[in-house]
Formats: sequence, structure tokens, C-alpha cells
Amino acid sequence: MASMTMRTFVGFLLLMILLTLMPESIAQDAAVALKASLLTNYDKTLRPVKSASTVVNVDFDVSLRQIIELSEKDQIFRINLWLRVYWNDEYLTWNASEHGGVDSLSIHSSDIWKPDIFLFNNIGEETYGNIEAITDVTVTSTGRVTHLQPTIFISACPVDITRFPFDKQECILEFGSWIYTGNKLNMSFVNPEAERSYVTPNVEWILNGAPMIRKVDIYPCCPEPYVTILLVLQLERRSFYYMFNMVLPCIILMILNVFGFYIPPDSGERLGFFMTILLALVVFLQVLSGSLPKTSTTTPQLGRFFANTIALVGFSCLASIVVIRLSYSGPASRPLPRWLRLLLLRYLARLFCMDTIAEEKHEDEEKAVVYNPFHKENQTNQHRNTTNFELDVSQNLRHIQLKLVRCSREYSAPARPKQEEEADQDEWKMAALVLDRALMFSVGLASIVVCVTLLRRNGQHEDLS
Ligand SMILES: *[C@@H]1O[C@H](CO)[C@@H](O)[C@H](O)[C@H]1NC(C)=O
Ligand SMILES: *[C@@H]1O[C@H](CO)[C@@H](O)[C@H](O)[C@H]1NC(C)=O
Repeated sequence: MASMTMRTFVGFLLLMILLTLMPESIAQDAAVALKASLLTNYDKTLRPVKSASTVVNVDFDVSLRQIIELSEKDQIFRINLWLRVYWNDEYLTWNASEHGGVDSLSIHSSDIWKPDIFLFNNIGEETYGNIEAITDVTVTSTGRVTHLQPTIFISACPVDITRFPFDKQECILEFGSWIYTGNKLNMSFVNPEAERSYVTPNVEWILNGAPMIRKVDIYPCCPEPYVTILLVLQLERRSFYYMFNMVLPCIILMILNVFGFYIPPDSGERLGFFMTILLALVVFLQVLSGSLPKTSTTTPQLGRFFANTIALVGFSCLASIVVIRLSYSGPASRPLPRWLRLLLLRYLARLFCMDTIAEEKHEDEEKAVVYNPFHKENQTNQHRNTTNFELDVSQNLRHIQLKLVRCSREYSAPARPKQEEEADQDEWKMAALVLDRALMFSVGLASIVVCVTLLRRNGQHEDLS
């Protein structure tokens, strides 16, 4: 009795197992049979259409994975992406309910017809742009074929470095069929923009967008149109590296260059200081030019910035030589030329609020040199003047009187006392001081202008677009 129940139980169990496995095995058999029947007499070199005039519509989609590199020097672009290509195969259709409910099959991609999609601007040597099928395709019962596969492309990408390091580059990947014209194989994109949600961020480039464009070309060889899909990768350089490692030190050197004019001309350090800055900048320029393509068609913005800075520092060297020459006053017997005195001790000194010191010198000079009839009156004036008007008058008087002093001095040049020579030397030194201040301000201003115009992020770009 017990063995009887045991046997029925085992039998029942076996039946259950068989029942659960049955549809699977039937389906698997059906799939094998279906595949065999589909692929017998299948010619994979012909387009899968029953009427020769039917167009095969290939839908093209891309998911971006990683921008591997964009080399400015070699103008080579390497990218890893997933291709998704869909088309209809009229010979790979079946009625699912007649084939054990099998509604999709995976077939080795070399067993069926595939669109011969090439990357036209490929420069990888092994494949010549052919997208070799390395994965299987899936086919549904309606004949829809889906081919998904990962690929790494090496393509040419012209890099325009005019705005380096604030440049934006557009690398275009051009996909199309090599042998079929647009009348036989029509390509179109599924989404107007490539999928970007799985992109690994690149350390050097930001991917701003990846639109797709459908393009129809007619080549001189053949009258029929050829359809290609352009995948435009809009890249923007991350400029922080260059700002931090090159621009920042350069700006510091620029500031030092401005304050170099603060070193007293007769300390002997000054020229060496400027030369050191110049050398440091040349070294920076060398580093920069090593990382850029050697083009002569355009100069990168950063290069122009460096060149301008070098020009500024070079100018500082030259100006410094002039100032040092001035402060050593030259032949002791020569007074400061009239135009220089006017330019430096009058206008520039006034501009840089140094006229009080300059005036002081004049007063010294005037006391030392000649007797002057206004002197007394001046002093008495000073004792009792209370109104601005009177001050003005006294100022004007002083100017006239200074002129007189100068004239008389120039005429009585041959017999000059020692005191006068010293006064002249002082005047030369004073001129050097004023010139120094003027140079410091103008070099500072020029530095600011260079920084503002050449370190702008998107000034020119907006004009172009
Ligand atoms: C598929 O086959 C079933 C059963 O033979 C039939 O009823 C159905 O109409 C067929 N479907 C198509 C789309 O031909
Ligand atoms: C090709 O595809 C485009 C867009 O999908 C469509 O507008 C065009 O009519 C198609 N051409 C042919 C010949 O089917």
C-alpha cells in the first residue's frame, strides 16, 4: 500500500516536471526549426526585400559611452560608443503562433544581410571605417532586426585652437552605407540627439551636446543621392588646468613686472629683475607650445596672452634702461632739456600727483640761483593772504618767476657754480622718478588691458555664431 502511494507520488512528480519543462523544450525545438527554415535559401548578399524597388529603411541610434581622447597635435578623436541599428528584413518573418509562440530569435550577424555602414571620416588603420559586426542580432517575427554593438572609433577631427584654452570643438562622425544609394538604403535617426546618460565624464572635455544630422550627398561619380548621418559631438575644454598652471603664474609675473618700477633705479637690481621675469615667461611659452599643434595658421589665445606679456616685460626692460640712464644724469654740465622738463616735471608730475615734490625742487633751485624781485613780495603775500584769489595770483607769479629763472640760467650757462650743477643732477633724478611712476602706471594699465581682452571666455565666439 505504502509502495503504491510512493509510486503514484513519484509518477505525479515526474509528470509535473515534464509539464513544466515541456513548453520550453518545445519552444527551443521550434526556434531551432524556425531558424533553419529561415536561413535555408537565405542570400545574405542581397538586400532583404521582395521587390527590387523597395527601400530598406535603416534607423540609426547612438549611445555615447566615453570620449577617450582628442589630440590637438595629431587632430585625432577617439570615442567609445554603442551603435543601435534597426531595419526590416522581409525574409525573416514568421507567424509566432505557428512556431510554438517564438516571437524573437537571435541570429549570428554573419548569417544574414546587414547594412554596410561605414564611418566615412575614419582614420583607424585596421578596419578602414567598416563597422565590423561582433555581436549577434535579434529578429522579431515581424522581420524587425535589431543590431546593438559597442565600438571604438578613431576619426579625424580638425581642432581649431584659436581660442585655446577656452575653445569649443566640434568633432563630426559621418556614418553611411558605402555601396547602397539613398534609393536602396535610406538612413534616418531615431532620436535627434545621441543618448548621453551613460557617458563617463572626461577630465579634459565637457560634452555639451551630440545632435545628429541627416545629410544627402550627390557625388560626381554617380547620379544617385547617398544618405549619411552626421553625429556632431560638441566639446568644450575644461580650462581650469591651464588657468591654474599657466595663467596664474603669468599674472603673478605681470604684477611683479609692474612693481619692478618701484625698485630705485640706482640700486642696480632692476634690470636683472626684469630679465628674470622675461626668462620665466619664455619658459612658460615653451611649455605651452609643446602641447599644441604646430600650426602657423592660427595662434592660440593663451599664446597671444603670453606673447603680449613678453612684449610688456620687454618694454619694461627697455624703459628701465632709459630710466637708469636718466637718473645717472649724463654729462654733469647739461641741464634737463626744456621739452623734457615740461613733459616730465610739469604735466606728468601733475598727472601722478608728484608736482609737490617737483615744485619743491624748483623752489630750492630758485632760492639757490638768482635773486628775484618777486621773492619778497611773495613772502609778504604769504603772510597776509587769506583768499583763494590771492593764492592763485601768487601761484601764477611763481610760475612766471620760475620761467625767468630758467631763462636767465640758460643764458648764463658757461659760468655755472657747483651748486647749480648739483641742482641739475637733482632735476635729472627727479625726471627719472616721474618717468618711473608714469611707466609703472602705464605698464599696469596695459597689463590689465591684456588680461581683460585675452582672458575672456566667450567674447569672439558669440560674434562668430
Ligand atoms: C497565424 O497563424 C494562426 C493559426 O494558423 C492564424 O489564425 C493567424 O491568422 C496567423 N496570423 C497571421 C498574422 O497570419
Ligand atoms: C528616407 O527617410 C527620410 C526620413 O526618414 C524620408 O523623409 C524619406 O522620404 C525617405 N526616402 C525614401 C526614398 O524612402
